[in-house]
Amino acid sequence: MGKQKGVIESKLKETRVFYPSIEFSQKANVDADEYERLKRWSETDWEGFWRYFALKKIDWFKRFDEVFDGSNPPFYKFFVGGKLNVSYNCLDRHVRSWRKNKAAIIWESESGETQVLTYQQLYIEVNKFASVLRTLGVKKGDRVLIYMPMIPEAAIAMLACARIGAIHSVVFGGFSSEALKDRIEDAKPKVIVTADGGFRNGKAVPLKSNVDEAMERVEHRVSYVVVVRHIDRDIHMKPLRDFWYQDLMGDPDYAQIYCEPEHVDSEDPLFILYTSGSTGKPKGIVHSSAGYLLWTMLTMKWVFDIKDEDTFWCTADIGWITGHSYGVYGPLALGATTVMYEGVPTYPTPAKWWELVEKHSINILYTAPTAIRALMRLGNDWVLKHDLSSLRLLGTVGEPINPEAWMWYYQIVGNEKAPIVDTWWQTETGGHMITTVPGAQFTKPGSAGKPLPGIFAEVVDMGGNPINDPDKGGLLVITKPWPSMLRGVWGDDKKYIDVYWARFKDKGYYFAGDGARKDEDGYFWIMGRVDDVLNVSGHRIGTMEVESALVSHEYVAEAAVVGRPDEITGEAIVAFVVLKEGVDKSRHDELVRELRDHVGREIGPIAKPSEIIFTDALPKTRSGKIMRRLLKDIAAGRKIEQDISTLEDVSVLEKLSELRDKLREEMNKGENGNSG
Ligand code: PRX
Repeated sequence: MGKQKGVIESKLKETRVFYPSIEFSQKANVDADEYERLKRWSETDWEGFWRYFALKKIDWFKRFDEVFDGSNPPFYKFFVGGKLNVSYNCLDRHVRSWRKNKAAIIWESESGETQVLTYQQLYIEVNKFASVLRTLGVKKGDRVLIYMPMIPEAAIAMLACARIGAIHSVVFGGFSSEALKDRIEDAKPKVIVTADGGFRNGKAVPLKSNVDEAMERVEHRVSYVVVVRHIDRDIHMKPLRDFWYQDLMGDPDYAQIYCEPEHVDSEDPLFILYTSGSTGKPKGIVHSSAGYLLWTMLTMKWVFDIKDEDTFWCTADIGWITGHSYGVYGPLALGATTVMYEGVPTYPTPAKWWELVEKHSINILYTAPTAIRALMRLGNDWVLKHDLSSLRLLGTVGEPINPEAWMWYYQIVGNEKAPIVDTWWQTETGGHMITTVPGAQFTKPGSAGKPLPGIFAEVVDMGGNPINDPDKGGLLVITKPWPSMLRGVWGDDKKYIDVYWARFKDKGYYFAGDGARKDEDGYFWIMGRVDDVLNVSGHRIGTMEVESALVSHEYVAEAAVVGRPDEITGEAIVAFVVLKEGVDKSRHDELVRELRDHVGREIGPIAKPSEIIFTDALPKTRSGKIMRRLLKDIAAGRKIEQDISTLEDVSVLEKLSELRDKLREEMNKGENGNSG
C-alpha cells in the first residue's frame, strides 16, 4: 500500500480541481444546496430520510411497516413488511403514463442493426416471457439462470423473473462452460435462458453449446432450457428439455399478453450475482427487491442526473453488477432510455462507440477506465471525427482512473463540457457509494469523491479507528447498513459473516476489501484491493480461482498467481507455475499456450494469465505460506526491498529473479523486433 500511496500523492500534487459549469449546476437534479440538505438529513434523521424516498420512489402494493430492522446483525432488513414488484416499477407504471411510447431500450449490434423497444413493447415482451416461465413451472423463489449475449431478450428475461418473483442469476456470456457448471451447481436453477450464440468482435460465441457441456457434468437437473435464436446457426436441441424462445413467445398457450405481477416482500431476493473473492470459488451475492431498487433509482437521479429527455448508455455487460443496476433496473425504474450494445468498443472500427454516441445522440456515457485507456491509445482522430456534442455527463467505474485517462476522457470525449463522475462501488453494494454528485461538487481526477448522502464510509486502521491523516492510507469500511447492500452469500451465511463483517465485528463495519485514503477535503482515493483479488479490466478475478484452475491441469504441481500493473487493463495476471516431475519443459511455448487455454476453459478468457513463469519452487515461509508480496515484486520487475528473513529458501528467490530478468529481456527483444 505504501508504494501506491506514494504514486497517488505525487499525482495529487499536480491535481487540478474541476467544477461543473454554472449551466450544468443550474439544471442539475441535485445542486450544492440540495446536496447539503440531503447529506444533513441523512445524518440527522436516517430512518426518516430512507422512509421518505422509499415511499416517494417506489410504487408499493402494500406499504412497509418498518424502515429498518437491525435486530440480527449483519442480517439487516429494510422496508420490512412492504410488498412490491420490481418489474411493475420498471414497466407498468410507465405504460400508464405519457412514457408508454417512449424508447425504453435502444439496442445495436456490431453490424449496425438497431432495434428500439418502447416501454409498451417491452412491457408486452416481459409479460409474455413471464407467463412462459410460469407455464414452465417457475415459481416465486425459484432460480432462473440467464446466460446471454447483450440483446434485449437478456433484459426481458431479467424483468420477467422479477415479475413472477423468480430469482435470476445472470452469468456473463464470456464465462466458460466450467464456470457455468459451478454456478448451476450452486444456484440450482429450474430453467436456463440462453441463446444459440452471440457476436463479439465479429465472431460467434457458442453459448448454447457451453450450456450443454455444463449440463452434462452437473448433478442438478435443470427442467428446461429456453434458447433465443439470435445468430441463426444449427445447434443441438434436446427434445423435451430445450425450447426455442421464439416458439414459446409465439404460442398463446405459453405467452400471454398480461402476466399478473407477484407481490413480493421487500426483502425477497431479486437476484444472485456471482463474484470473485479470495476463496477458490466465486460467491453468489444476493440482492433484495425494495432496497436494491430504491438505491439504483436514487443514484440514477443524483449521480447520473438523469432527465426524461436523456439517452443513457452504460457500456457494461448485463453479466456484471454495473449492467444490472445501470443497464437495466436503475434506468428502467426511472422511465429513462437505456442503450444496449452487443459488441466490443473497437469492432468493426475503432470508432464504433463514437458512432453510437453520435447516431443515438447519447447524453450520458458510463464506462470503465480500461476501455477509456484502450480507446485513448488509438488516437484522438477516431473520436474527433464524430459529433459528440450530445454528451453532457461522463462516468467511470470498476477501478481507479489514472489522471491521464481522466483528462483525455474530459477533454477529447467530453469537450471540457461534461463533468466526470468516478463512481466507487461493488457487486455487494448494489449501487454507487462514493462519488461526486456532478452539479453539486467539484471533481479531482483520480479521486472518487465523497460518500453519497445516506452512505457512511470511513478509512480506518486495522483496529477500526478512523485515520484522519490525509497522507495515510487504510482500509475502506462502510459504517452503517444501506438499503441496497447485499443480503448474504447464496447458501453460505458463514461466508457472508466471515468475508464482510468479521474483521470489524465489534464496530459492526462492512469491510469492502479495498484500501483507501481520505484527503483534506474528505475526498476518497481508492488504492485497490487489499485481499487476493485482482482487478483486470475492471473485473474482479480471485487469484485462488486462477490457481485452482491451473493446478487442475495434469502437468501442474503448484501455482501462485499475482497481479502486475498494466497500462491498459490496470492489472495483468502473472502465474508462477511448478510443473510436475517428468513434464518436458523444453516445450515451453506450447506449455504456456496449453495452460492459458486451460484457464480459459476453466473460467473464461478474461482469466487467462498474461504471463506464465515456470519455476522449480515457490518462495514460501517456514510455515509453508506462499510469499505473494515477493512474487508481486518479481512480476512487476521491482527490486525486492522487503524483509525476506522468513523465507525458507532464499535461493528460490534468486532463481526467480533471474528467470524474470531473462523473460523481460526476451520480451524487450521481441517488442523491438516487432516494431522494427
Ligand atoms: O476495488 C474496487 C474496484 O472494483 C471493486 C468491485 O468490483 P466489482 O464487484 O466487480 O464491481 C465493479 C463495478 C461496480 C472494488 O472493490 N472499483 C470499483 N469502482 C471503482 C473501483 N476502484 C476505484 N475506483 C472506482 N471508481
